[in-house]
Amino acid sequence: MGALMGGVMRPVFKSRNRSFLVFGIVFLSLVGFVNCTKKGDTGASAQADLQALVLGEFGTMTGPESTFGISTHRGIMMAVEEANASGGIQGKPIKVISLDDQGRSDEAVTAVTKLVTQENVQLILGEVASSRSIAAAPVAQKYKVPMISPSSTNPRVTQVGDFIFRVCFIDPFQGKVMAKFAAQNLKMKTAAILRDIKSDYSVGLADFFAEDFQKMGGKIISDLSYSSGDADFKAQLTAIKLKKPDVLFIPGYYTEVGLIARQARELNYNGVLMGGDGWDSAKLTEIGGKAVVGGYFSSHYSPKSDKPVVQNFVAKYKEKYNGEVPNGLAAMGYDAARVAIAAALKSSTLAPTDLRDAVAQTKDFEGVTGVISLNDERNAVKPAVVLKVMASNDYEYVTTVNP
Ligand code: PHE
Repeated sequence: MGALMGGVMRPVFKSRNRSFLVFGIVFLSLVGFVNCTKKGDTGASAQADLQALVLGEFGTMTGPESTFGISTHRGIMMAVEEANASGGIQGKPIKVISLDDQGRSDEAVTAVTKLVTQENVQLILGEVASSRSIAAAPVAQKYKVPMISPSSTNPRVTQVGDFIFRVCFIDPFQGKVMAKFAAQNLKMKTAAILRDIKSDYSVGLADFFAEDFQKMGGKIISDLSYSSGDADFKAQLTAIKLKKPDVLFIPGYYTEVGLIARQARELNYNGVLMGGDGWDSAKLTEIGGKAVVGGYFSSHYSPKSDKPVVQNFVAKYKEKYNGEVPNGLAAMGYDAARVAIAAALKSSTLAPTDLRDAVAQTKDFEGVTGVISLNDERNAVKPAVVLKVMASNDYEYVTTVNP
């Protein structure tokens, strides 16, 4: 992490310079109130001199997946600011230290190491992308600091150990949701898959989709791959088009998905395009244009739900962020932070091991993305929604699928 400038702290989003790993330290109340905190007092007198809660966040704030980190960060900050407005944790404001991993696994490891060993955070929020959560989780586990991934869905993330949690569903479920939607709702018989072999998320979701689609009577007639960062998918798409699949399942992230959709339509492939939560970005339509419109993907929530908890969140978020409709990532960031804060409110010491135990007990927590109960594997079991792409950041809610 040559990019880390001797502890230079920069206000969030003021720096456009990618070379700064540290993108933000956010003081949520009077600086003097929180700037001398050090964690670690787990003694009996902890109640009296309880330290402030310092949350660490690592995310992709720059690079081709930057909307993942930015949206998640907005959700997290909204939750933290709300909590601080109502008194913080035992009267002290919560502080958040956010680091940019630039969408790289090695930087994710470095960021979490720094959060734990230098910033002494008591709990970590992140990452979005499963590969980066899988890379960094062993550091949190080793130092026994709880980590909650808002939205990493690959099963391996929480298998790293008992300090690693997530507040989202996992890919075996997500794959089944889309297989069922393709086979039963759309009555599709044949599918092709185009997976990103560099992404644990993409490879896993492709496999889970294939397994369930076949169980439901569908056929996978082509299963090809690319690597994140690729920009030309014509060879794979030409081969796929020749097989005329009813569906092209693309379990990737929005940048490549946008390009793949565009090139598929340029080659006159007319089947249905489908994918998973990695499509969730306002940039999807910016990159994919008309080609992605009409495509379906599974997601963590719909901002169009009429549930009061959702409408309340959407209204507050729009007010705070210039009218922007919160996507699934923002909702998951908000829920992850709220689960962390709820655990802190139950912990008397705020020591990482106590926070871990409190997080593990999360049950029937009413999140924006559904009711969150963490199971023995530290995963949330909750419904997914299927959305249809209509226009930029505008999705038609199609259906909810329960586990
Ligand atoms: N679930 C994806 C992963 O595990 C990340 C993601 C979540 C992307 C939500 C977009 C929206 O890699």
